[in-house]
Amino acid sequence: MAAFKTLDDVDVAGKRVLVRVDLNVPMDGGQVSDDTRLRAIQPTLNELAQKGAKTILLAHFGRPKGKRDESQSLKVVVPALEKTLMQDVAFADDCVGEAAEAAVAKLTPGDVLLLENTRFHAGEEANDPDFAAALAKLGDLYVNDAFSAAHRAHASTEGIARLLPAFAGRSMQAELEALTKALSDPERPVVAVVGGAKVSSKLDLLGNLVERVDFLVIGGGMANTFLAAQGLDVGKSLCERDLLETATEIVAKAKAAGCAIVLPVDARVAKEFRANAENRVAAVDDVGADEMILDIGPKAIAEVAAVFAQAKTLVWNGPFGAFELTPFDAGTVAAAKTAAELTEAGKLLSVAGGGDTVAALNHAGVADQFSYVSTAGGAFLEWLEGKDLPGVAALTATK
Ligand code: 3PG
Repeated sequence: MAAFKTLDDVDVAGKRVLVRVDLNVPMDGGQVSDDTRLRAIQPTLNELAQKGAKTILLAHFGRPKGKRDESQSLKVVVPALEKTLMQDVAFADDCVGEAAEAAVAKLTPGDVLLLENTRFHAGEEANDPDFAAALAKLGDLYVNDAFSAAHRAHASTEGIARLLPAFAGRSMQAELEALTKALSDPERPVVAVVGGAKVSSKLDLLGNLVERVDFLVIGGGMANTFLAAQGLDVGKSLCERDLLETATEIVAKAKAAGCAIVLPVDARVAKEFRANAENRVAAVDDVGADEMILDIGPKAIAEVAAVFAQAKTLVWNGPFGAFELTPFDAGTVAAAKTAAELTEAGKLLSVAGGGDTVAALNHAGVADQFSYVSTAGGAFLEWLEGKDLPGVAALTATK
């Protein structure tokens, strides 16, 4: 990866610093229900305040599709942000134009101002140069601390980085360093866990990973498609029958690249998809026509642990089973605990990310023991696919 500049490379004192953050946080009853993304940006924002910057936050919230929509105003996030940062946060009800300019003019060193949802303007998602220029006009410097929005080539993530001196914030820096260590320049052997429901949503990702990792452990509903491609009867299990040939091609590609694909040898099966449904352990060639695979079985759990024990680096995306339903969380929990123990013992670098994965690791109670857990959903997946993320590319482009 090309080099990017960080907060170590700039004097921010007295400067107006536009910081792209990801405040796309889950809400429940008007309150932020998970402050992970707020905690992630705290180091950057506290550092800027402490160094005397005038900090101006740019962020999106939901998908208002270029129109003002009060139900997607960022104003609701201010109290939680103030609590996390332990300082007042001013709010301007537009991100460009007079309201924004007046609020910026009032800032003194150390202050933090949040501008209204950038997606209230169609120019944001269109990466319109005039809109990017209107944002850039508000600041002297640009800092991107939103890795989780870096897969979007939007004005506040990409266009603006080409108009101002641009730097990675501490959270962006930590993400890029962890992800580089995990996949671009890893200690081998590398094992990737890819779980989740569907092969179809992860085709590019699987295609990229088989070229890069030594072991690819496939779990979740997508493993059923691979088992069916081997001619096994997976009963009523989730299975994408139109992708059997694709699954066979991925296995062939892995073989050619020297990547071992690890599929479950046994499974926990049930006739109903609900918590505590009557269930049994079955070898994968012994699934009844009226049964569905809802988790990996004990032999598969042991095999996954043995693979982890041989590895130096682990990249994890997606659960092994229906982890939100007991007892079908057992495979995911056991594998997560094994990875956490190996990490704590200094034997494994473990990086996880993407949607359900973080929820699964939290459920297992081990997210804090992983080397790094990404705050990103879609951006983490695109990075696993080997794609260039526009928000990152703009930071590393020479200006
Ligand atoms: C996210 O929540 O993953 C990011 O904020 C990106 O949001 P988006 O998928 O609406 O672009």
